[in-house]
Amino acid sequence: TTNHLRHVESMASLPSGAGKISHLNAVILGEALASEENDFVFPSDDFSRQALIPSPHKYLEMYKRSIEDPAGFWSGIASSEFYWKQKWGDQVCSENLDVRKGDIKIEWFKGGITNICYNCLDRNIDAGLADKIALYWESNEPGFDAHLTYSQLLHRVCQLANYLKSIGVRKGDAVIVYLPMLMELPITMLACARIGAVHSVVFAGFSSESLAQRIVDCKPKVVITCNAVKRGPKTIHLKDIVDAALVESAKNGISIDVCLTYENQSALKKESTKWQEGRDVWWEDVVPKYPTTCDVEWVDAEDPLFLLYTSGSTGKPKGVLHTTGGYMVYTATTFKYAFDYKESDVYWCTADCGWITGHSYVTYGPMLNGATVVVYEGAPNYPDSGRCWDIVDKYKVTIFYTAPTLVRSLMRDGDEASYFVLISRLLSLQYVTRYSRKSLRVLGSVGEPINPSAWRWFFNVVGGSRCPISDTWWQTETGGFMITPLPGAWPQKPGSATFPFFGVQPVIVDEKGTEIDGECSGYLCVKGSWPGAFRTLYGDHERYETTYFRPFPGYYFTGDGCSRDKDGYHWLTGRVDDVINVSGHRIGTAEVESALVSHPQCAEAAVVGVEHEVKGQGIYAFVTLVEGVPYSEELRKSLILTVRNQIGAFAAPDKIHWAPGLPKTRSGKIMRRILRKIASRQLDELGDVSTLAEPGVVDQLIALADS
Ligand code: PRX
Repeated sequence: TTNHLRHVESMASLPSGAGKISHLNAVILGEALASEENDFVFPSDDFSRQALIPSPHKYLEMYKRSIEDPAGFWSGIASSEFYWKQKWGDQVCSENLDVRKGDIKIEWFKGGITNICYNCLDRNIDAGLADKIALYWESNEPGFDAHLTYSQLLHRVCQLANYLKSIGVRKGDAVIVYLPMLMELPITMLACARIGAVHSVVFAGFSSESLAQRIVDCKPKVVITCNAVKRGPKTIHLKDIVDAALVESAKNGISIDVCLTYENQSALKKESTKWQEGRDVWWEDVVPKYPTTCDVEWVDAEDPLFLLYTSGSTGKPKGVLHTTGGYMVYTATTFKYAFDYKESDVYWCTADCGWITGHSYVTYGPMLNGATVVVYEGAPNYPDSGRCWDIVDKYKVTIFYTAPTLVRSLMRDGDEASYFVLISRLLSLQYVTRYSRKSLRVLGSVGEPINPSAWRWFFNVVGGSRCPISDTWWQTETGGFMITPLPGAWPQKPGSATFPFFGVQPVIVDEKGTEIDGECSGYLCVKGSWPGAFRTLYGDHERYETTYFRPFPGYYFTGDGCSRDKDGYHWLTGRVDDVINVSGHRIGTAEVESALVSHPQCAEAAVVGVEHEVKGQGIYAFVTLVEGVPYSEELRKSLILTVRNQIGAFAAPDKIHWAPGLPKTRSGKIMRRILRKIASRQLDELGDVSTLAEPGVVDQLIALADS
């Protein structure tokens, strides 16, 4: 058994076990409650009674089975809850996760023939959900909305699937999707899946250059977009961005024959949209003409489902590739248990489908469960900070899943207990308490560690101290939740993602890659595979192995730091590589650096993450200018603009720090440790600077810090 299993066993001490009665155990069993150090938050008895996993014992029983017999555990779920045209071969899972033993390979349900769109729609309709609402769509403008039942959704998906086939999109072809949160976004994902095409959704906040980079990498048959979108009071002309990206990708030899464009009437009329005859096609002109039924393309469980580009520690984004069968089983199962899903739930996840959360927990996970999903087009604070709770009341949302950054921005968090903070908190409170929110039952958090004070505000104020919070830790690469509370099963600790999901074996290792047991902190790795794991980086299996499997041979390395407390709870401490999490968006410092140095007056740049009250982390950029160029306010703005244009507005640096020189070792390596301390003004913790090639630059940087 794994360390984790031993640990949990000793804590929850099954009736037959002789494990020592720990603090937690005593609490669970209703013995001696609350000592001073006790920071547990308990699910109510009412909640636990109705929960899918009502107790630590039940969790432990299932967890144990999932680890001792993963093939049996997952194939049981796969065969009882999904439709397979043909069952998989003899092996449920075949894997090699050890670079020392050859190429890394992960396969689940190989030989099994299925289709994820069929499982989301046709299977649920056959089971009686035809008239159940699949999607509620809420526009940026209050008062404008729409909805689709499961059978209406299927019709729309089939029409688009038929259109895509008519223009020659076939199984295995890539489709780039650059859409905001319209119903057409999940429709497009499902239509691609239906015909076996591989969608690659690009978050509609990325710039034309980033979009072009992705087009050039995956060479799509078609690009699907809309003319514009409104976010709050602003109109963003998405089609213009696509046009620029297509010019750019054509320069790199990739020309796109069809750009299917949806007219998002509430944002921009057709007449005002720039158009290239012959290439651009209005969605509304063609798609509705196609039949509302479309045969399914049956695919192998290991056929690719989608590509999603994400940031790593080098400049080039990585195309994370997920396949069909394992991802399907994993997203559906994690959704069901981590949110304690019931058929009557109305579920709203505020994430955009441009990120993994929108793939696994707006589209696939919920739809596989036949859930009713709310999709919101706009900004969470438009027209005011009460919008989220307005939407919750309007649709009677029961499960609300969001990011800590949103919670913090709505609570107007502050470090000091000043009058100002107190008053602004009281004001923000009104935006919440004005609405009932009594439909809420489960809350969720994702994207970055949630600080305990935001956790408590979310729990007490938003959830009325009634709703457990699933603080789900996972990654684009993992496909689905890895470490997460199961509401009702465990008492929670604010800020801890608690325990691993079924089948997941997290391990904490030291620098040498040795597993550490008990109370500890170190690098978070995962032992063994799970069905939702990504299979490769598109076109670069070598980089896949080097980044994830070589640092600690025998394990998948997550890039995150983690500690485990005396009760076995996991606390994620953030990235340990050159990746930062800004408002839950993952950004590689190297990407921002390469954008900055593309500015003709910037000679060198070094970017670090720095603590930020609302965003979690902010982007702090040290820049060295080309010889003779003076630093000015104008130049600062133009550097920031360069990053906005090359990556997207969400990656714009919060601070530009002019650096006549950067602290480097004698071999020329930038010492980021020192830069991080300067950025966070922890000047008494700079450590040893004597090994620097020019120790003087440190004082110079400090002197320029607030200039
Ligand atoms: O650092 C972790 C953080 O987000 C990273 C993954 O980012 P991305 O692939 O964009 O996926 C975000 C949505 C799953 C992780 O390496 N992270 C995500 N969830 C949490 C988290 N950190 C702490 N607690 C979480 N619940």
